[in-house]
Amino acid sequence: MMEIVLGSDHAGFLLKEAIREHLEKADYAVTDFGTFCEDSVDYPDIALPLVKAVAAGEFSLGILVCGTGVGMAMAANKHPGIRAALCGDTFTARCAREHNNANVLALGARVTGPGPALEIVDIFMSSSFQGGRHSRRLDKVAFMGERQ
Ligand code: RB5
Repeated sequence: MMEIVLGSDHAGFLLKEAIREHLEKADYAVTDFGTFCEDSVDYPDIALPLVKAVAAGEFSLGILVCGTGVGMAMAANKHPGIRAALCGDTFTARCAREHNNANVLALGARVTGPGPALEIVDIFMSSSFQGGRHSRRLDKVAFMGERQ
């Protein structure tokens, strides 16, 4: 069974709640790393424990939500082994899994409404990495981090 971990800042809180309910109804095993209310929090403080857990293999995929999704994606991609994709449409969500083997989905709750966001989540969850030429490219991306 796919184990999913969720996290958001205050701006993403309500969408994160909707995603949790949606995934639980679909029988995914869901863990929520917070935040748990709309009080202001700094998105890196939520992203860090989540990406550590995903990179350590504790979860299959992670979802991070903030106002635009930009801060969460930037923070998540600082961590080795994390390939976070900011998605605002289902085509990008599918390609992010099939081509980029994204293991974290970033969403912007102030940009993408709950209807489209849940469809993006569904597509992201149900798509799989295609390997082949995409593996070679991802190896090159990973090597860029090692050279820093
Ligand atoms: C919070 O106001 C906002 O900056 C944050 O949710 C996010 O959009 C950052 O990228």
